[in-house]
Amino acid sequence: MDSNEFDFEDRIISSGYSAEDADSEPGLRPRSIDEYIGQEKAKEILKIYIDAVKLRGDTLDHVLLYGPPGLGKTTLSAIIASELGVNFRVTSGPAIEKQGDLAALLSNLADGDVLFIDEIHRLSRSIEEILYPAMEDYSLDIIIGKGPAARSIRLPLAKFTLIGATTRAGQLTTPLRDRFGVLLRLELYTPEELASIVRRSAGILDVPIDDDGALEIASRSRGTPRIANRLLKRVRDFAQVKGDGRITCDIARHALETLEIDELGLDNTDRRMLEAIIGYYDGGPVGLETLAATVGEESVTIEDVYEPYLLQLGFLNRTPRGRCVTRAAYEHLGIPYRRAVSESNDGQMKIE
Ligand code: ADE
Repeated sequence: MDSNEFDFEDRIISSGYSAEDADSEPGLRPRSIDEYIGQEKAKEILKIYIDAVKLRGDTLDHVLLYGPPGLGKTTLSAIIASELGVNFRVTSGPAIEKQGDLAALLSNLADGDVLFIDEIHRLSRSIEEILYPAMEDYSLDIIIGKGPAARSIRLPLAKFTLIGATTRAGQLTTPLRDRFGVLLRLELYTPEELASIVRRSAGILDVPIDDDGALEIASRSRGTPRIANRLLKRVRDFAQVKGDGRITCDIARHALETLEIDELGLDNTDRRMLEAIIGYYDGGPVGLETLAATVGEESVTIEDVYEPYLLQLGFLNRTPRGRCVTRAAYEHLGIPYRRAVSESNDGQMKIE
């Protein structure tokens, strides 16, 4: 199989942040907690903590936001800072290369400021060690000099709030995870929530849309606002060229079918990956590394980009012996289900 068939980076339904999102996402981002649609549980908890902190004139405890990409972790963090009326500083795990980079960021914070570290699971160990005293005691331990003359000095920092975001809470080291006082999991959005987001975004972009059109886009967006906003812009192009500019259910369906995004939000690449497991491995089990080699991709991309939604749909199972395509996926793909191996209810494999 040609590995070019699996073009993960350019997938229209990829939940990762792309250059195209950078152009329009800031304008579409809600700026207050009341404008932010969905994540009701996280919002309810955050509202209480924010109000309490404001009442006491205190600093918010460190917050860890985790969940699949594209759900609005950065947006929510910016809203927290704005609701608290403090500065919002942004960086990411891979961007911090040296201890000095983080020390510079930390020492420039003022009392109450929010420092947001995206992909915090990608911080190196040596940099994590700077964070421990910073989070716990608001101090920076710096080693001056080398060899026997080296000594450590402790500098006080402002009382700041760290918000860490990660798609993989399990990859965080225990000492780092334990230093967050608030852990919040963001969930995939319901089609109704996404339809509200699509209507709101269409209003900002000045695109007329009816409720069925919004729901059609929403239900093919994999529970992810970033994908919903991206699909909205693609459908807008179809509506302007093929119709009168208004997004209706018919136009949305026609556009998304032309883009080969099916009614569940699966694209060609998802279908090819499932078909590869069926075609080459009789539906599985196949080990992650073998699958990655077959489709010409990194195993982490498969785990982070493909699997969450396929697992949630119940199209893929993770078993101790590898990944298996389920009967539901065969049915969705229109492939007759005839396998020597089937999954029992507990997800274990049994030979028939
Ligand atoms: N745009 C992206 N995510 C959003 C959300 N949760 N609420 C409103 N607009 C959004």
